[in-house]
Amino acid sequence: MEEAMPQLQPVGMQHRDSYIAMLDDHERYGESYPWNDAKTARVDFARFVEELAEEAAGGALPHGAVQQLTYVLILGDEVVGEFRLRPYISEPYERYNGHIACNVKPSSRGKGYGSHGLALGLELSRGFGLDAILLTVDDRDNLPSIRVIENNGGRLLRSASDAEGRMIDSYWIDL
Ligand SMILES: CC(C)(COP(=O)(O)OP(=O)(O)OC[C@H]1O[C@@H](n2cnc3c(N)ncnc32)[C@H](O)[C@@H]1OP(=O)(O)O)[C@@H](O)C(=O)NCCC(=O)NCCS
Repeated sequence: MEEAMPQLQPVGMQHRDSYIAMLDDHERYGESYPWNDAKTARVDFARFVEELAEEAAGGALPHGAVQQLTYVLILGDEVVGEFRLRPYISEPYERYNGHIACNVKPSSRGKGYGSHGLALGLELSRGFGLDAILLTVDDRDNLPSIRVIENNGGRLLRSASDAEGRMIDSYWIDL
């Protein structure tokens, strides 16, 4: 029997406990959660959901921020990861950031969820009318991240160093 694969869902109040369990999972593995407002998610999940709705609507964003749609990667009712989609990126943002960013919680890695989630993210991106996707990797030792991209047809487009001197590799996926 084929193993069940997770789905993408916009973050909502129904995900509160499982989202916080995902944050706890990172903590247990000694990892921080720099990708979203974990602090607000823990203390006021309703506010967190509101913040994500504001980012998704794309209005009144802080300087340099772009419209972002946040989805949980969910298997049954367990949040196993998070995907963030940015339908409209442009310079200078796109030099160091891509259309899609993702993370899978440490205890759920290596099961194909990241690669599957990105395939779902590409489907959503087609729905936004995009015909190609840019993804960035800021750590060449992050082999799982590179493999997730390559598993979905990504190829290296360019490498550039950011303001802090970190090398950022940008990958391209034709949709
Ligand atoms: C990158 C990340 C999303 C991968 O998620 P995942 O669910 O483990 O991905 P998959 O199970 O689809 O595995 C992808 C590849 O990485 C490999 N991999 C997974 N965990 C690994 C590990 N700990 N060490 C080495 N390789 C690993 C898998 O074997 C697979 O390679 P293959 O296709 O050659 O077999 C996850 O490691 C993560 O959240 N990392 C921290 C955040 C991050 O780096 N995000 C950037 C993603 S673009």
